[in-house]
Amino acid sequence: MRPTDILRAEHRVIEQVLDCLAVVSARARSAQTIDKESGAAILEVLTTFADKCHHGKEEDLLFPALERAGMNPGQGPTAVMKMEHVQGRGHLAAMREAMADNSASAARAYAEAADAYVALLRQHIQKEDHCLFGMADSLLSAEVQENLVHQFETVEVQKMGHGTHQRMLDLATSTAARLHVPFQITEGVTTCCCRTN
Ligand SMILES: [Fe+2]
Repeated sequence: MRPTDILRAEHRVIEQVLDCLAVVSARARSAQTIDKESGAAILEVLTTFADKCHHGKEEDLLFPALERAGMNPGQGPTAVMKMEHVQGRGHLAAMREAMADNSASAARAYAEAADAYVALLRQHIQKEDHCLFGMADSLLSAEVQENLVHQFETVEVQKMGHGTHQRMLDLATSTAARLHVPFQITEGVTTCCCRTN
């Protein structure tokens, strides 16, 4: 398995969580109140699984490997991806702030931040899947790719802690079921290096 196979499989999970977020956002707009239970679960999965774990693997391991292989760290594709990760964190912070408030204006602010996050992440994932990861597959040697897969395990254990990956998948699954959003976990995620069993 290539490192990009693991990251692509995680993208499929993140996209489905974005589907959930879009539903909660639309309801917040129409009902002028936020579904706090679903909103909190989605925020936890996006903060822990998408940002801390998935973006952590990219920022700490894949992008530096690409930059060592010749990509310009200041202006190249990895710089754009890192900038978009920062933008995403801003939207997550705005959602978190809005959820602490019960007003109609907070529900609108939540929906605005959520919609911006969904749009940002969807196009970000497209760029990685169809451009950056193909470059990684051809630029990085088999040895470097193998090392990256092993190093991803370190991110899982050190940044997430044992069992957190599965807990996030379970939380995403139960939230999608509550919202009636189709949710399927792809094989690349279930066979990920972070499995604790
Ligand atoms: Fe990604």
